[in-house]
Amino acid sequence: MLHAVIPAAGRGTRLAPVTRAVPKELLPLGTRPVLDHVLDELNAAGVARVVLVAAPGKRALLEHLSGNPAVSVAWQADPLGLGDAVLQAEGETGEEPFVVALPDALFGGPAALRALLDVVAARDLDGAVAVERVAPERASHYGIVGTHGDGLIRELVEKPAPGTAPSDLAIAARYVLPPAIFAALRATEAGSGGEVQLTDALARLVAAGARIAAVPLPAGVRRQDVGSPAGYAAAFVDYALADPDLAPAVRDAFDARRDG
Ligand code: G1P
Repeated sequence: MLHAVIPAAGRGTRLAPVTRAVPKELLPLGTRPVLDHVLDELNAAGVARVVLVAAPGKRALLEHLSGNPAVSVAWQADPLGLGDAVLQAEGETGEEPFVVALPDALFGGPAALRALLDVVAARDLDGAVAVERVAPERASHYGIVGTHGDGLIRELVEKPAPGTAPSDLAIAARYVLPPAIFAALRATEAGSGGEVQLTDALARLVAAGARIAAVPLPAGVRRQDVGSPAGYAAAFVDYALADPDLAPAVRDAFDARRDG
């Protein structure tokens, strides 16, 4: 049975002040919250059980999910980073590789995640990470991976200092990870930003011989960043235009602006 972890404990500072009261995962895209679109993606990729990691102050997530038998909630007590958030799901993700889906990125469906799962199964790997090419000056905003010729990861650096990135391949918010990631996370000290980084725990696994692939986003699939004001606004329009009930009103609004 395929499990997934959704780390949703971040404070949403990029979307403040809205996120003071409303978790960013519950902001609407079209008529449904971001979180529901992520859950749809996971479901379509074959995920049967989800552990959502929330933080104190984001209890609205619990209320939103109440009555959903496929999702349980774990809590991150202190804001110690993405790696620490994933660690809170330890013991709840089964004995097999499991998915981690960062909910501030959407991919328009399950193709990106399916590509990871397919590669892990076809090559019998320990894990896989979605990657996309970024401009060199953007590399310091991401986890960056260096790969061997066969696509397996040889090194990972979280938010490399300008000019030091091992490649232009940025980690893109979807992972398939082996259960060994939890021991690696427990052994990982705070890194970039003073937080426990998932990237650093992955680097430990790779250094210990784990076979983890970097998998480019499939052709035609792009990452939408819904955790920043500009990315959220653009994604909202995309989702509204994809909804037959909303699209006519949105088109009229654009037309009225252009003509007026
Ligand atoms: C996180 C990860 C980073 C990754 C990014 C996008 O960073 O730590 O490695 O590249 O998500 O998936 P954050 O956006 O939380 O700073």
